[in-house]
Amino acid sequence: MPDHLILLAPSANRVYAADAPRLAEAELRTMAMGFGLLDPDVSATRVAGVDYLALHTGSELTDLDTRVLSELSAAHAIFRREGDLLAPVPVQRRAPYPGDLVTIQKYQGKTNEQWTRLLLNVTAAAARSPERLLDGTLHVLDPMCGRGTTLNIALSLGLDVTGIELDTKDFQAYSAFIKTWMRQHRLKHSADDSSLRTSGRSRGKQLRVEVAASKDAYKAGDTQHVTYLSTDTTDIDGLMKPRSVDVVVTDTPYGVQHGSHGDRLARSPLSLLDDALPQWQRLLRTGGAVGLSYNRHVAPREELAALLGAHGLTPVGGPADEFRHRVDASIDRDLIVARKEG
Ligand SMILES: C[S@@+](CC[C@H](N)C(=O)[O-])C[C@H]1O[C@@H](n2cnc3c(N)ncnc32)[C@H](O)[C@@H]1O
Repeated sequence: MPDHLILLAPSANRVYAADAPRLAEAELRTMAMGFGLLDPDVSATRVAGVDYLALHTGSELTDLDTRVLSELSAAHAIFRREGDLLAPVPVQRRAPYPGDLVTIQKYQGKTNEQWTRLLLNVTAAAARSPERLLDGTLHVLDPMCGRGTTLNIALSLGLDVTGIELDTKDFQAYSAFIKTWMRQHRLKHSADDSSLRTSGRSRGKQLRVEVAASKDAYKAGDTQHVTYLSTDTTDIDGLMKPRSVDVVVTDTPYGVQHGSHGDRLARSPLSLLDDALPQWQRLLRTGGAVGLSYNRHVAPREELAALLGAHGLTPVGGPADEFRHRVDASIDRDLIVARKEG
């Protein structure tokens, strides 16, 4: 029986400590289910003192198996076990842009990159067309995007992405960052900052970026779009096309102070979501999915699931606690995913 080992990225241990193998296992099961792969026989294992996920497949990996395994947020390398030896399996990832896009920015309140990637993966896997994650046609929305961790991850995968954020300092910081980054990497692009107005009413600001991984790709129209709307996510009517988004992925406010956000940003996450969800729901295509990262200390899971249900979204997924982990004394982090069925 062919056996495969997935080497976990060292960063997984830094983010999740002892929970890293468990979270990687849950992510793999969720991805396998979403992509219609056979129920994988997975277990965390240690070989020569190093953590791996062991995968017993019973047959050779298909191309799709390898694509999906390569997308796992914690996958560093994949090996086929041959006796005592490990043979490398080439990873297959769409990664058109330099990887520093997601790692350069450091700031207080940044959502961990690997967790953001995991959230995007499991949300895309719950959508009716998960293959869009792999072929680059998934449109991602982060409706509380801060300084853009989700935007950068989506772009690094070659996806179109839209972000919304109320804090104007975050908008300015992201706008400056992405323009500098594209210039430094000599990427052919356009970037337009402008005010956001509908029917003469000022709605904030916007940044629209079009970029390609090479000059030829730009000429051929093989470009990615990043749109950042600097406005209140509970008041976005008329700013985006209904049913234009495949997945909504966001790290909700944790209800703890991270720097200097004013009163407007310090609402209870549940009441904020109650106001925002009807608008996000309208932007989702049928079969699209919402993935929320949240702090269980301020948003009990049952209340969040009920709230999603009340807004026409059906919670999906495996055992309730599979992604739950402790960040620090004030943050008991978890995620919840729900689908728009009708
Ligand atoms: C946990 S942070 C997200 C951080 C982000 N993922 C990053 O890595 O930069 C939650 C964000 O929600 C934003 N937020 C809170 N209320 C909002 C609202 N009404 N409209 C838009 N954004 C809001 C906050 O300003 C904050 O940036």
